[in-house]
Amino acid sequence: MSKNVQFNRLHDLLDRMNVVNSGNNKAEDKPELSDQFAAYILWLDAEPMIPERTYSIHFQNESTIVQVTDLSFKINIKTLSQLAAKKLEQDEIGYCKLSLSQRVSFDAYSDNQQTGTFTIFDTTNKSQIGAGVIDFALRRAQNISWHETNINQETRSKTKHQKPCVLWFTGLSGSGKSTIADELEKQLYELGKHTMLLDGDNVRHGLNRDLGFTDQDRVENIRRIAEVSKLMVSSGLITIVSFISPFRAERSMARNLFNDDEFIEVFIDTPIEVCEARDSKGLYKKARAGQLKNFTGIDSDYEEPEMPEIALQNSDANIDDLVNNILDYLRANSKI
Ligand code: ADX
Repeated sequence: MSKNVQFNRLHDLLDRMNVVNSGNNKAEDKPELSDQFAAYILWLDAEPMIPERTYSIHFQNESTIVQVTDLSFKINIKTLSQLAAKKLEQDEIGYCKLSLSQRVSFDAYSDNQQTGTFTIFDTTNKSQIGAGVIDFALRRAQNISWHETNINQETRSKTKHQKPCVLWFTGLSGSGKSTIADELEKQLYELGKHTMLLDGDNVRHGLNRDLGFTDQDRVENIRRIAEVSKLMVSSGLITIVSFISPFRAERSMARNLFNDDEFIEVFIDTPIEVCEARDSKGLYKKARAGQLKNFTGIDSDYEEPEMPEIALQNSDANIDDLVNNILDYLRANSKI
C-alpha cells in the first residue's frame, strides 16, 4: 500500500467523522514544537501495535523514537463507532496518545496536510509498520524540565566506592534466574557492595500487581522495571534485574536507557525441556493442561538474546560456578 493510499484512507475516515475539513490548509502557520500529541494511526504490520513498545517515527524533516502511551480506542471503519482496545491489529485504525524521545515540529492535520502526517517504522528491521495523522499537540510535558541535582549518580557512587550498573537477567521461567541472582547478590554483599535485586515474582506483588501476562502487560512490566532500575543505578547501586523479559524490543529499550558500559545482559540459557522437567512451581504442568494461558515458551514467545554480555548454560551447572563467571566479568570490566 503506497503512502498516498495510507493517508487517503485516514483522510477519508476523518472526513466521514467530520474531524477534518479538506482544503483547510494553513501551511503558513508556525508548526508546533512538542514531544507529545494525539493522533489517528493506521497500523500496517502483521505484528500488532502494542502501547509502550518503542518504534521509530518519521515526520516530514525529522525522525525520532516514539511510544504510544495510550490507545484510547479503535474505530470500526464501517459504523465509525469507537471500540475499547489494548492493541491495534493490521489494517485497524486507532486513536492514540504518543510520546516522542525529543521535541519535533509538526502541525495538526487539519491545519496542514503535509506536516500533520507521520509514518512509523520497526526499530530493528526498518520496515514501515504504520501511518498516522496528528489531531493535536499535547503540552503535558512542556512545563516539566529536568532538574540537575547537586548530588548525582557520580557522587552517590563515590560514597559507595563502586561503579553502578544493571545486570539484566533474562530467561525462561524455571531457568534459574532467581536462584543465580540471589546468590550473586549475596556474594556482592559479602564483598561489601551496595546492591538491589528486582525480581519478577516479587515486583508483581506490588508495583506491577495490576499486570498480567499478555504481550501488552509484559511490555509495560518491563518498561516500569527498566525505569526503576535506571533510578537504582542513578542512586549508585549495582542493580540485579531478574525477569523473563521475553521480547528483544523491550530489552533493547531498557539497554538504551543506560550508558554502554552500564547495561549487562545476562542470558540464563536453559532449554525449555529442562525448565519443564524442573517445574518447581508446577506452572508448566498447568500451562500444558490449558489451565494457564500465555505461558512463556508454550503459548507465548521467548526471543533469545542475540548478543548478551554474558550467557550461562544452566542445565546441570553448579550455581557457584555460574555466579563466579559473572563476578569475573564484573572484575574484568572494573565494576567491582
Ligand atoms: S515477564 O515475562 O513479564 O518478564 P516476569 O519475570 O515478570 O515475566 O514474571 C514471571 C513469573 O511469573 C514466572 O517466574 C512465573 O512464576 C510467573 N508466571 C505466572 N504466569 C506466567 C505466565 N503466563 N508466563 C510466564 N510466567 C508466569
